[in-house]
Amino acid sequence: MKEAIQAVRGMPDLLPEDTARWQQVESVLRECVGSFGYSEVRLPLLEKTPLFNRAIGEVTDVVEKEMYTFEDRSGESLSLRPEGTAGCVRCCLQHGLLHNQEQRLWYTGPMFRHERPQQGRYRQFHQLGVEVFGLNGPDIDAEIIALSQLIWQRLKITDSLQLQLNSLGSAQERAAYRQSLVEFLSAHQEFLDEDSRRRLNTNPLRILDSKDPKVGELLQEAPLLSDHFGSETRRHFEGLQDLLTGLGIAFTLNPRLVRGLDYYNLTVFEWVTHDLGAQGTVCGGGRYDGLVEQLGGESVPAVGFGLGLERLILLLDKLGCFTPYVQADIYVIGSGAGVELHQAAAAAKLRELLPGAKILNHCGGGSFKRQFKRADKCGATFAVILGDNEIAHNSVTIKNLREGGDEQLELPLPEAAKVMGRTLGLSGLAF
Ligand code: HAM
Repeated sequence: MKEAIQAVRGMPDLLPEDTARWQQVESVLRECVGSFGYSEVRLPLLEKTPLFNRAIGEVTDVVEKEMYTFEDRSGESLSLRPEGTAGCVRCCLQHGLLHNQEQRLWYTGPMFRHERPQQGRYRQFHQLGVEVFGLNGPDIDAEIIALSQLIWQRLKITDSLQLQLNSLGSAQERAAYRQSLVEFLSAHQEFLDEDSRRRLNTNPLRILDSKDPKVGELLQEAPLLSDHFGSETRRHFEGLQDLLTGLGIAFTLNPRLVRGLDYYNLTVFEWVTHDLGAQGTVCGGGRYDGLVEQLGGESVPAVGFGLGLERLILLLDKLGCFTPYVQADIYVIGSGAGVELHQAAAAAKLRELLPGAKILNHCGGGSFKRQFKRADKCGATFAVILGDNEIAHNSVTIKNLREGGDEQLELPLPEAAKVMGRTLGLSGLAF
């Protein structure tokens, strides 16, 4: 036998039980972005490599170590998108969507990062991304945070997520801070781990994010970025905090929150859970007012977030939010000569009458016992039975497989559909 080929490490398959859950979650996400009036964009998975180098920053982990980059057949360097913001800005510029216009956009789909896979961290993962262009006040920052909170509310997981908030100030404020931070850390190099020492020369602000306990202790004494804030930064940050407080959205200020991508300024935030171990950041984002210009456009303020679907779904699973998977609600079985046509016709009629129901028609014949077993295995609530009697009476027999014991009801098909529709609690019935 030939050796079977396995999937690429860190690029999981989603099996039928998984996709049922994903679809439920995705429909809530669509509902939420829709109810805020955001519009969808669909962006390519591949972009020219320099787009990411320029947008995300040459000395970030994503660009330095994590991109899937290759030359295509014409020798051009392309990369699988490690995130969606860069591609979204590129798309808006290319199609002139930012000329004196505001845009409130969303997208969803796979992203690719060559990280070390573990629970909650994959090499192919999915994000819901939200990006807003053309608005520079704290009101829009508060809006996208409120949008993310609506998602937790609709999924009933608000209590499991905490909002952490910080301001990264302006480029000038960060440059001044960078200098004082580097001076401080250089004087205490013996407390820095290898990674932080390397970052001291490349991207010192990322040291604030270090998980090393010794570095953490040292940082207690370090100068604060907020000491360098001017009045505009303060006004924006305080304005945002007032709005969030007014909206009843609780937050924790975290002066060490810096995010892993270089394009941010002013507001940054993350929604974090304690229920997922090390990979507890479910959603992260912030303001990136310099990026449009950096990618060749006029200066346009922008803000957005990315929400990791795998982490969200893991969290929902941990919290027991999913109902058991059922392949079908109604399973149609039959026995007797020529019953196949009656089964297929009954199933078709039921689909018409109960458009929200999942109706599986048994194919391949076999004894009633075997067919009932199948019905049970696929989780169906009802079996619809067609035998010689039913065919002669132009009726069907229904049996509730979950409750009701041995009771069976022979009814004309439209009556049977009504009974089943009521029990299944289907909305949008066609009668
Ligand atoms: P990010 O923080 O790199 O931001 O990713 C956003 C979210 O994607 C994370 O909070 C996490 O839930 C999920 N995520 C990231 N990497 C992985 C991975 N390897 N496996 C599973 N999930 C992962 C961005 O990507 C920005 N583009 C967000 C943004 C949009 N900022 C402004 N606009």
